[in-house]
Amino acid sequence: MSATDHLVIFDTTLRDGEQSPGASMTLEEKVRIATNLEKMKVDVIEAGFAAASPGDFDAIQAIAQTVKDSTICSLARATDGDLERAAGALKGANRARIHTFIATSPIHMKYKLLMEPDQVVERAVHAVKTARSYVDDVEFSCEDAGRSEVDFLCRIIEKAIDAGATTINIPDTVGYAIPEQFGDLIKQLLNRIPNADKAIFSVHCHNDLGLAVANSLAAVSAGARQVECTINGLGERAGNASLEEIVMAVRTRPDLFSVSTQLDTRLIVPTSRLVSSVTGFPVQPNKAIVGANAFAHEAGIHQDGVLKHRETYEIMKAEDVGWHTNRMVLGKHSGRNALKARLEELGYVIGDEHQLMNVFGRFKDLADRKHEIFDEDLHALLSESGPKT
Ligand code: KIV
Ligand code: ZN
Repeated sequence: MSATDHLVIFDTTLRDGEQSPGASMTLEEKVRIATNLEKMKVDVIEAGFAAASPGDFDAIQAIAQTVKDSTICSLARATDGDLERAAGALKGANRARIHTFIATSPIHMKYKLLMEPDQVVERAVHAVKTARSYVDDVEFSCEDAGRSEVDFLCRIIEKAIDAGATTINIPDTVGYAIPEQFGDLIKQLLNRIPNADKAIFSVHCHNDLGLAVANSLAAVSAGARQVECTINGLGERAGNASLEEIVMAVRTRPDLFSVSTQLDTRLIVPTSRLVSSVTGFPVQPNKAIVGANAFAHEAGIHQDGVLKHRETYEIMKAEDVGWHTNRMVLGKHSGRNALKARLEELGYVIGDEHQLMNVFGRFKDLADRKHEIFDEDLHALLSESGPKT
């Protein structure tokens, strides 16, 4: 492993993200999002599940014909019909991937598939070989790997790689894993599967316990080299691992992760806003990286620190993820220095300490009545009796 292994970013906003109840998107909206993801230099875009509906097929086809730099992927169950639909939708793509999957956990095999483990292995091998007859880039997923037996995973994955799978994905389908244990699972698979070096190992974590990003990062530390994720963490139930958090975590902590991505992170916030407006799912204000408060400071001590040196309270630059700048919110917790800095930006000259204390006292009175003090409030305060520009 080199010091800077490439971490493949596989975005599934248009497939798993769209499975979020209420998040359906039109073909045009999907093409717009895919074009943004391509500009951001996302490696793989899972554009949909071709066999799911004619609309999904058409959207994958449109994206495959529009996007040229990213690999375009369609999901397919391990059936001939699904694989044929996926291949059909991907025709014309510059780089095409078929992502086929079958469940491997005892509960899924017994109650959902009604299949014996041997039959599941046989079906997986057949599906991977069939997918390879259409495209060279084939991903195989062990659905519900987070609750599957390690011995069985080793067995089916070894056979899938022999059959031609180039990426092996380990989904924590129901968000059941805990970081230490999930990292250990990836380590065991990489160590025990004799042909593991012939494929890239990937993870796909759901957020039912709020651990999707933590589990994905534990897997990266253990050797996974593809992460499946979505913009804003959109996805089934509690969502998927959030792309922006994964990408910024590995970028902000190169001391911990020996991987890098090729993403233009300045497109993160615009893409987050696009996905939010298309789906109608607002981004919570305190959401990491893309929430409105992610780079906002209200507390006086923090504002004073940031004004002296931004790294006192910021571990990333707002501009690096696509915000115009960080933000000082003026409210009842704010201090004199932040108020003075904002007044100066607005063109007021605060002559001396006495004057500042006078304005600051009236500012605090107002802040007790209002949550946030805006520029218009400051102009009104200053016009009462304060200093002039
Ligand atoms: O969560 C999951 O297991 C999936 C697979 C189809 C990869 O979305
Ligand atoms: Zn999923």
